Amino acid sequence: MIKVLFVCLGNICRSPTAHAVFETLVGRAGLQQQIQVDSAGTGDWHVGHAPDTRASAAAAERGFDMRALRARQFRAADFGEFDYILVMDENNLADIQALAPASHRATVKLFLDYARHFSEREVPDPYYGAEPGFERVLDMIEDASQALLCSLRETLEREAAE
Ligand code: 4NP
Repeated sequence: MIKVLFVCLGNICRSPTAHAVFETLVGRAGLQQQIQVDSAGTGDWHVGHAPDTRASAAAAERGFDMRALRARQFRAADFGEFDYILVMDENNLADIQALAPASHRATVKLFLDYARHFSEREVPDPYYGAEPGFERVLDMIEDASQALLCSLRETLEREAAE
């Protein structure tokens, strides 16, 4: 089992979008028994809240269902529970690294490090912006999710061959 956690600031726009998109791709690939997905925010303002309706609506247009997701705050224990902690921007990275224990097993990266068609390193925060922001966020997240799935599939195949 590979466990993947997506992290942003509020856990109501970018990371739940990544959660829904990547979980959908995992399901379509039939890998839901091998890859587990979660998301969290570094902030606590929206804990327990459903995703932002603009993010949910944009995702639903592309066939991704975010309705069951509820925000939670990132915690230091996540470093011990997840194999991959994939953050949306540099602030998220600094915020979680401040909570990291001296040693842990998680791979911590900017999610867009996986993207093939975007050279940006950060998924921009769409919260204070207009609708096109959510479309761009989805474009980036779909691209990085496809590449992440390819990478994890290779990891699973390598492990199975050992
Ligand atoms: P997210 O967007 O980090 O992509 O979920 C935000 C959501 C809420 C806030 C900021 C960013 N906020 O300040 O409440």
